[in-house]
Amino acid sequence: MENFIIEGGVPLRGTVSISGAKNAAVAILPAAILIKGKCRIENIPNISDILLCYDILNILGAKITHISKNEVEIDCTDIHNDVVPTDIARKFRASYYFIGSLLGRFKDASVGFPGGCNFGSRPIDQHIKGFELLGSNVSTEGGVIHASAEKLTGNSIYLDVVTVGATINIMLTAVLAEGTTVIENAAREPHVVDLANFLNTMGANIKGAGTDVIKIYGVSELHGGSTYSIMPDQLEAGTFMVAAAASKGDVLITNCITKHLDSISAKLVEIGVNVEEGESGDSIRVSCNRRTTKTSIKTLPYPGFPTDMHPQMAVLLSVSEGISYINESVFDSRFQYADELNKLGAKIKVDGKIAVIEGVNSLIGGQVSACDLRAGAALMIAGLIAEGTTKIDGVEHIYRGYENIVNKFQDLGGKIIVSSNQ
Ligand code: EPZ
Repeated sequence: MENFIIEGGVPLRGTVSISGAKNAAVAILPAAILIKGKCRIENIPNISDILLCYDILNILGAKITHISKNEVEIDCTDIHNDVVPTDIARKFRASYYFIGSLLGRFKDASVGFPGGCNFGSRPIDQHIKGFELLGSNVSTEGGVIHASAEKLTGNSIYLDVVTVGATINIMLTAVLAEGTTVIENAAREPHVVDLANFLNTMGANIKGAGTDVIKIYGVSELHGGSTYSIMPDQLEAGTFMVAAAASKGDVLITNCITKHLDSISAKLVEIGVNVEEGESGDSIRVSCNRRTTKTSIKTLPYPGFPTDMHPQMAVLLSVSEGISYINESVFDSRFQYADELNKLGAKIKVDGKIAVIEGVNSLIGGQVSACDLRAGAALMIAGLIAEGTTKIDGVEHIYRGYENIVNKFQDLGGKIIVSSNQ
């Protein structure tokens, strides 16, 4: 297994280009199943969750031509509807998008239960509610989710909670259904919009993505034959914004969409960080030469402050002056990062769903473990700002969602070595 060895104390300086969005790509690749033909997808992040999507598409018989590490042509003309094995499905969360796409294409799907970051309970009742309202019978046995329908018919679906996964899975199932589907209380995340744009490029008829009411007018088939470029990753960009601020550096982040970063930018400016958006809206410069101040954050669905930026922000607030609070309102619990940061001298107490963070002057390097994707990214930031050396294990969690992250930090001056212990 690999470890990261990080020497802290170097302000990050320079330019970093953001890769394609993981949470868009892991929805768009399964969506190719809906196309009886070819499509070309660009700006795909080269990360381990994407390689798992390729594995599943290969099992289903899709013909994948790798044009580069970030671009593929996929031909799903002759795919066969096999069971998506549990041993692959359980390796990541987004495997459940193969339920919606196989159900939409074949009116039948069998997919092993998903895995993903451990945030306590992660139910899929809203996904099942959507599949059933579109005409499916859903059962679970032997760790496999089965969904099948004589016919898929559009319907109105009101989501009890704002859920990205269910919004996406219902969209995938409804695209080829007869009639119109209306999703109310839909997730508005940028990656929901990116999927809708991909599907519309391939012949679907989806309106309202990005708002809380999405209308999907069923079509008879998707024509494919087009090329789609995946949007930049909001969360990777946000991670580098926080790293620039925490290291008291000066970083230009390019190939991003500044509009997607509004809640992060606003919070950083509030605590004393300099944030300058590029005129064309595709770059942002973050610098900081002073100790940041305290604040309170409540994580919310988009356009609120992203839950997937919670651990990273906790690092910055752990060395800000005063006492800060992060109220995690999206997941039952994603506080595993706190124990690890406290090993580096942070003073974080978890009270219910609120992290109470007492700012300290500096973190001190030590040995820590990445327990999920964003907690791992947070520990990298902590190592980059701590005094001394930090060793991080469990880095496979980080590789799930960040392309080339070690080189990107090294190019900004970060002192990171990758070591592998047997
Ligand atoms: C997606 O997870 C992302 N994963 C997560 O990103 C992200 O944290 C999350 O959305 C919120 O933005 C992918 O896109 C692959 P949800 P998802 O369904 O779809 C509850 C990362 O770091 N809920 O929006 O699983 C659920 O328990 C990962 O990139 C139900 O109650 O999240 C949670 O409290 C981590 N019933 C809330 O909704 C359901 O059927 C939001 O979950 C579904 C969800």
